[in-house]
Amino acid sequence: MVHGELLYEGKAKRIYATENPEIVLVQYKDSATAFNGKKFATIEGKGQLNNQITSLLFQELRASGIDSHFIEQIAKNEQLVKRVSVIPLEVVVRNVAAGSFSKRVGMEEGIRLKHPIVEFYYKDDALGDPLITEDHIDILGLASEEDVAVLKKNALQINKKLTGLFASAGIKLVDFKLEFGKDSKGQILLADEISPDTCRLWDEVSNAKLDKDVFRRELGSLTEAYKKILEKLEGLQNA
Ligand code: C5P
Repeated sequence: MVHGELLYEGKAKRIYATENPEIVLVQYKDSATAFNGKKFATIEGKGQLNNQITSLLFQELRASGIDSHFIEQIAKNEQLVKRVSVIPLEVVVRNVAAGSFSKRVGMEEGIRLKHPIVEFYYKDDALGDPLITEDHIDILGLASEEDVAVLKKNALQINKKLTGLFASAGIKLVDFKLEFGKDSKGQILLADEISPDTCRLWDEVSNAKLDKDVFRRELGSLTEAYKKILEKLEGLQNA
């Protein structure tokens, strides 16, 4: 696949045009960032791991009827996806108290929530991606009430599928962040990535962290943790 024009370069990915205006190429980079870009490192092999894990998860979701922008993985660190216009919201689903939730409401990390919850954050670097309410989304014109309902319903459906999938691999899905976009027909599609960069994944037995918290909190080798996730998921596929 010939890389067309570089359309966008973010903290973890580059997006290139392709010969088809409806399709873009996503290249996963070896960079790790945290705390809104304040902590930064290059970690060899991270891009490939995240691309492979995301591709595998999008394929699993597709197999259970949940479509996304994902088309196919074309290289260890590259995938083709449908071009969408991204809705400027981060949709976070939580099963277990951790991270900013624990800090905000004072619930100790590790406590299982009564039921999964969905939160919305406004994708705006200058504001530091703040938590926002559905009324804020409406006032800012970020998404319609109907679209917000679809985002919530899809996020919980994805959570159900992923929680089961990770559980079969001996991993607890604590929380994760999703992004959605609209395709040329106005259809809402799951977009971006689902990887240890965007999920909290704990070993079911030891509760060892196998996600970006290893980098954020300096708990050891990030690539070793991500490799474990990929191996466990591949193990399921080969079973
Ligand atoms: O930091 P917080 O507890 O709000 O994160 C919730 C989940 O969303 C975590 O799995 C985290 O990795 C993910 N997240 C993300 N990108 C962000 C913020 C959070 O992937 N910008």
